[in-house]
Amino acid sequence: MANSCRKLVFNIYIGFYCSAVIMPQKCICPQFTSSPIDEFNKDAEAFPAATNGQIFPWHELRLPTVVIPLHYDLLIHPNLTSLDFVASEKIEVLVRDATQFIVLHSKDLEIINASLQSEEDVRYRKPGERLTVLSYPAHQQIALLVPEKLRADLRYSVAIDFQAKLADGFEGFYKSTYRTLGGETRTIAVTDFEPTEARMAFPCFDEPLFKANFSIKIRRESRHIALSNMPKVKTIELEGGLLEDHFETTVKMSTYLVAYIVCDFTSVSGTTSSGVKVSIYASPDKRSQTHYALEASLKLLDFYENYFDIHYPLPKLDLIAIPDFASGAMENWGLITYRETSLLFDPKTSSTSDKLWVTKVIAHELAHQWFGNLVTMEWWNDIWLNEGFARYMELISLNITYPELQFDDTFSNTCFEVIKRDSLNSSHPISNQAKTPTQIQEMFDAISYNKGACILNMLKDFLSEETFRKGIIHYLKKFSYRNARNDDLWHSLSNNCLESDSASSGFCYSDSKKASNTLAFLRENVELKEMMATWTLQKGIPLVVVKREGRSLRLQQERFLSGVSKEDPEWGTLQERYLWHIPVTYYTSSSNVIHRHILKLKTDTLDLSEKTNWVKFNVDTNGYYVVHYEGQGWDELITLLNQNHTLLRPKDRIGLIHDVFQLVSAGRLTLDKALDLTRYLQHETSIPALLKGLEYLELFYHMVERRNISDVTENLKHHLLQYFKPVIDTQSWVDEGSVWDRMLRSTVLKLACYLNHAPCIQKATELFSQWMESSGKLNIPTDVLKIVYSVGAQTTAGWNYLLEQYELSLSGAEKNKILYALSTSKHQEKLMKLIELGMEGKVIKTQDLAALLFAIAKNPKGQQLAWNFVKENWTHLLKKFELGSFPMRTIVSGTTSHFSSKDELQEVKLFFESLKAQGSHLDIFQTILEAISKNIKWLEKNLPTLRKWLLISI
Ligand code: BES
Ligand code: ZN
Repeated sequence: MANSCRKLVFNIYIGFYCSAVIMPQKCICPQFTSSPIDEFNKDAEAFPAATNGQIFPWHELRLPTVVIPLHYDLLIHPNLTSLDFVASEKIEVLVRDATQFIVLHSKDLEIINASLQSEEDVRYRKPGERLTVLSYPAHQQIALLVPEKLRADLRYSVAIDFQAKLADGFEGFYKSTYRTLGGETRTIAVTDFEPTEARMAFPCFDEPLFKANFSIKIRRESRHIALSNMPKVKTIELEGGLLEDHFETTVKMSTYLVAYIVCDFTSVSGTTSSGVKVSIYASPDKRSQTHYALEASLKLLDFYENYFDIHYPLPKLDLIAIPDFASGAMENWGLITYRETSLLFDPKTSSTSDKLWVTKVIAHELAHQWFGNLVTMEWWNDIWLNEGFARYMELISLNITYPELQFDDTFSNTCFEVIKRDSLNSSHPISNQAKTPTQIQEMFDAISYNKGACILNMLKDFLSEETFRKGIIHYLKKFSYRNARNDDLWHSLSNNCLESDSASSGFCYSDSKKASNTLAFLRENVELKEMMATWTLQKGIPLVVVKREGRSLRLQQERFLSGVSKEDPEWGTLQERYLWHIPVTYYTSSSNVIHRHILKLKTDTLDLSEKTNWVKFNVDTNGYYVVHYEGQGWDELITLLNQNHTLLRPKDRIGLIHDVFQLVSAGRLTLDKALDLTRYLQHETSIPALLKGLEYLELFYHMVERRNISDVTENLKHHLLQYFKPVIDTQSWVDEGSVWDRMLRSTVLKLACYLNHAPCIQKATELFSQWMESSGKLNIPTDVLKIVYSVGAQTTAGWNYLLEQYELSLSGAEKNKILYALSTSKHQEKLMKLIELGMEGKVIKTQDLAALLFAIAKNPKGQQLAWNFVKENWTHLLKKFELGSFPMRTIVSGTTSHFSSKDELQEVKLFFESLKAQGSHLDIFQTILEAISKNIKWLEKNLPTLRKWLLISI
């Protein structure tokens, strides 16, 4: 048998392709330098063995492109009592080159029968003949062997019957449960496929490039409803009372976007101005929390249709709150699934920041209906084309649809968050190789999301919003129902630019940007591509060093590395070959005109037309670079902040605070210089800027508190309370004011109570007692709710009461706040109890375990406990979450990356090494080790300065 199979492989042509291309014209798949058939000749052993011992005819992780799917007919029957499903499918495929086998993905499915038929091939006209099915679980693939070679350019229909258990975790077709008000536990069945889990629900060509149409049928009991990507066309009644829902055929789409759900949820609905029916589904007792999401999604869908000038192509859009969900949300076309806290808004317990979150997640997933669903990246190495755009569109859409949320003022945080990671050597380029499912999952990180969004924002600022918008519309229209890669985007953006350029104003830039050199820069399509290659194919972030010499500005670029100073021996090597095309912007004391320049070289000189007192680069922090002012530069800016900070734009003040502390980490500035800069904050009129400054001081506080450096901890506490006293004392305990007034209230009171500020503790204790006395009925202002619970959780009675309320609460927003409060207890046995409940997954759901461990590790009394737990229960945790998944990465980095001593570093290193021996290879491990080393260096270098500065300041 093995022999015949070997022969079979020998005789056929196996097509090869290489679309995982990162560098233009250069294939990054070395194994494809010769065709697989040649390789087979050289080394027959290169083909793996299937589970039955026969040779499996394919040895790549990527599927062959010889056979491509056109249409799937799926019939699924989940049984919510026995917790399994039986199913059958018919896949219509096109054979592009003659072949004797079809390889497709399948994971943990029991294949009952597979057969093949064809209208176009006379040899296969008769009812399907049973096919041999080989399975190669290491690659999650099956191969169907056909008796006679399939012919090129003909269509065939593959029929497969299969079954499986509903999955236990959060991937594939899995079960989720919820408790009703009456205390009954109910089960639903739900799918979550991205990136590579559609293969757990049905055998398929599970790669984004294989787009097809899907006709889905679901069998269910009458007490349930079924939902899928498309509207239901009809329901037929089967023998025994079962119902079968038939859904309209989908548009052409990738497998990871397929979704279906069987549940007993209820909904609220509305219609957009273009006639799309939008519904929000939730478990019946949570219907009252769905109204905000309906309002927001109607508004946002209208916005996107308008903004992209492309209709949402489906007749309906459902958004559904799933009780057990691994990530925040998933953009399945027409049936978006959400974690409850990402969709539901409870006016009694959801705070301003909860509202911002829900709106942001809805905006993000709706943006994917275009970026991702309509136009999909060719392969996962460019997932940023989905996620970076969706994150970028959060900003664009919220600015217009919800200006009152003032989201614009926090966008720079999106960039600051990723700069932390990107300024470590272990970062990676936006477009990165990804082969295995684990590597693919790891691509869903801050680099793809945040850096992607930040470089798009930088490019938009450079091209002007209108030109950029035209370019992306061009891209979306051109690649609709197809796949794209980076170059397609750059091409659409530059071509569009050229068109509008000649048509009207003669400029590709916003009006204020008509510098002649910038204009020349974009004339050539190839240059935009070249420029963007420096941001997407190269890791890291540049530092622009500015030196003013009379009327000249000397600019220099280098790679910005936090934690490595110029004096360190490795600095030179880490700098080699890094160069960006940086669109820099600046204004000076002489006028607020925005000047532009593209810094393409290592060094450059600009001439100022007038003498100036100061110069500020990176206007509105729209650029993805850090700026250092040499000579008197920083002193001039600090003087300016103290004298009249409003001469600088608010977002520039935020940027200065960010950069100054980054430069301390990189050894370019001393900490006292940065701390001196914060002295102006007492007069700061912009709340986001004030919060940015406070954030750094708090960060230092937590660092010294964790390390038990008691003199500095005490003095810093004193400084914070004294310095921010005017702000703390003027806060009311009422939900009032603008979004930023409310954010300020939450942040400042949280800090005051954390630092044991007596008036804060007193007020919170009073509210907590009243709440307990009212049996949890009293409405506490939502923005201080978490603070009140946290203070209440410090007594055993309060803690126990909160845990009881946790079980009873129907609001995810409230439950999150309670869980956080419980995790701030100073009693280790209580913290341990929480972890046990989280591991058990009943009272505290498994989906919340990562956030719980993260919160406990943040608590100085819990940090060691959480870390020890993770080490000792690693294999248990791996049974719950996939290596490389969001939750697992949160757990690992959440319980380690704050460490700041050599002993801790050594311990973490040893643990990670022991994992490597088990075959783990998480990217994140290196990042964590680097982050800890950075903390160690920071403390060594800056603790004495901090200590001294505090003595002078208080
Ligand atoms: N496409 C992702 C969901 C996803 C995440 C799939 C990771 C596979 C791996 C979705 O659009 C997403 O980005 N969700 C975010 C929420 C959003 C606000 C950024 C999430 O789950 O955190
Ligand atoms: Zn996304």
